[in-house]
Amino acid sequence: MISDIKKPNNPLQPIHRLKAAVLLPLVLLCALFTDSMATQAFGGERSQAPKPFVVWAHSDIQPRSSQEKQNYLTALRDIRDSMATPDMAVFGGDIVQHSHFREMFLWFMDVRKILPIREWYEIAGNHEWRAINEYRTIVRRDLRYAVQKGNILFLFMSNEEAGRRTHISDDTFRWWEEKVRTGSGNIIITVTHGNLEGSGLISSSLERLTVINSERFRKVLRRHRVDIWISGHSHFPGWMPKMHYRNVDLGGTVFIDTGAIRRDFMTSIESRLLFLTPGSDTAILRYRDHLHRNYFTVSGYRIPLSHPFIPDSASKSVSAGSAIVK
Ligand SMILES: [Fe+2]
Repeated sequence: MISDIKKPNNPLQPIHRLKAAVLLPLVLLCALFTDSMATQAFGGERSQAPKPFVVWAHSDIQPRSSQEKQNYLTALRDIRDSMATPDMAVFGGDIVQHSHFREMFLWFMDVRKILPIREWYEIAGNHEWRAINEYRTIVRRDLRYAVQKGNILFLFMSNEEAGRRTHISDDTFRWWEEKVRTGSGNIIITVTHGNLEGSGLISSSLERLTVINSERFRKVLRRHRVDIWISGHSHFPGWMPKMHYRNVDLGGTVFIDTGAIRRDFMTSIESRLLFLTPGSDTAILRYRDHLHRNYFTVSGYRIPLSHPFIPDSASKSVSAGSAIVK
C-alpha cells in the first residue's frame, strides 16, 4: 500500500528543494544588500560597529505657496524612511518666506512630528525677523544657546537683527568666544544662518550671505579649535564646489553649507547628515538629496575631529536631563 504520509526525515520534497535552491541565494543576497545599505547609512561602519550619533542639519524651507510646503514633507518622509534615523535635528534658519508667519511657524512645529527625532534645535534666520515675536513664542525663545551631547558642544547663534546679512551682537560674540575658549575639551560645532566671511565656502564670496564682522570670529578660530561650522542661507546646490571646506588657516574648522529645502533654479531638496561614531575622531558628512532619495556621494566626506566622540551614555560630564546649557 502506498502511503501518502510524508516521510518525517525528509522535509525537503523535490519541489521544496527546488524552491530552497532558488530562494536561499535570494535571501542571502537580500541580507547582503540590507547589510550594505545599513553600512552606507551609518557612515561606512559595519553593522557590528557602535551605532553612530546622527545629526540632521537642514535650513531654508521658505515655501512661497502651499504647494511648496510639499518640499519639506518630502524631506521629512525621506528622513523617516531612511535607516539612519537622526538622534537630533539642527535647523539653520528661515522657516518662512514672506507671509502667514504664525501659521507657518505652527505648521513647522507640527509637521515635523512625523519623525521620531526627539531633539530639535533651531536658530532664527533673516526671514524669521519678519515676525520674530511669533518665532520666539512658537518655535524657540532663546536666540542663542548651547547644547551638550556627550562631548559635542553645539553653539547656536540666531540672526539678532533684521537684515539680509547675519548680525550677531557683541554680547553673543563674547558668549561664543567664552564657550569656545573654555570648551576645548569638546568637539565644538557652531551653527549660524549666514556663513563666516573668509570661511572658504563658495557662498562666503557673496557678502550678503555672510556674518557681519566675521573677522572677530576668525581671530578666535586661529587660536581655539572649532571643529565644524554649519550655516545655511545660500540656497546653493550641493553639486557646486566648496559647499563644505576645511580651512587650515582658521584652525582646521570644516565649514558646511546646508543647501536648502526649498527648490530654486537647478536645485533639489537638500540637507546634510553628520555621523559621529563612538571612539572615532573622524565624522562622516553626507549630502542628502531628498527628492531623489540618495546621497550625492554615498561614502560621504571624512571630517577630522579634535577628539574621539564620546556619546552621552559613556560621558561622565553630561547628565541625562536637559542638554541645553545657557
Ligand atoms: Fe536666509
